Amino acid sequence: MPKVAIYPGSFDPVTNGHIDIVERGLKLFDKIIVSILYNPKKEYLFSLEERMEMLKDCLKKFKNAEIDSFDGLLVDYAASRKAQAILRGLRAMSDFEYEFQMALMNRRLNREVQTVFLMTGLRWIFTSSSIIKEAVQFGGNIDGMVPALVQKKLKQKFALAPESQQSG
Ligand code: PNS
Repeated sequence: MPKVAIYPGSFDPVTNGHIDIVERGLKLFDKIIVSILYNPKKEYLFSLEERMEMLKDCLKKFKNAEIDSFDGLLVDYAASRKAQAILRGLRAMSDFEYEFQMALMNRRLNREVQTVFLMTGLRWIFTSSSIIKEAVQFGGNIDGMVPALVQKKLKQKFALAPESQQSG
């Protein structure tokens, strides 16, 4: 049976840290389903469609990575996709408590689905979608933290891209 993992998240937007987790996760799993939580109650910078498009583009080099979205309970979705594992990246200490809580709750809800953590690469230890959004918003340089396409989209969102500026 192929080893399948769900890599869930908000991906608002995808960062190089996320891509690193997918690349390394594919050394452990036959297939990774990168799945965006559809949560209409939460406000995101990018729509679900925009986030899916960016993920698709940024992960197109990985043949065994699929992009999807889900709502409801993650473990139910994992079971419906016949995934044995949930993959999450773990950055510095601050992630631990939240991730530990989620992993324990998910295990309580379905003991068949295992949560697997990969330590984020040292380069990405302080990279997060929220910190990147904040930096871009105030004109900060985020070179190398997100793929070029994502950087362009972020600048467009905050109307900083040259092509979105009005001339005259
Ligand atoms: O990128 P994020 O926002 O940290 O991802 C959080 C996510 C999507 C993994 C989490 O919110 C989730 O799995 N939500 C679905 C509802 C659920 O199953 N929650 C787990 C029980 S605590």
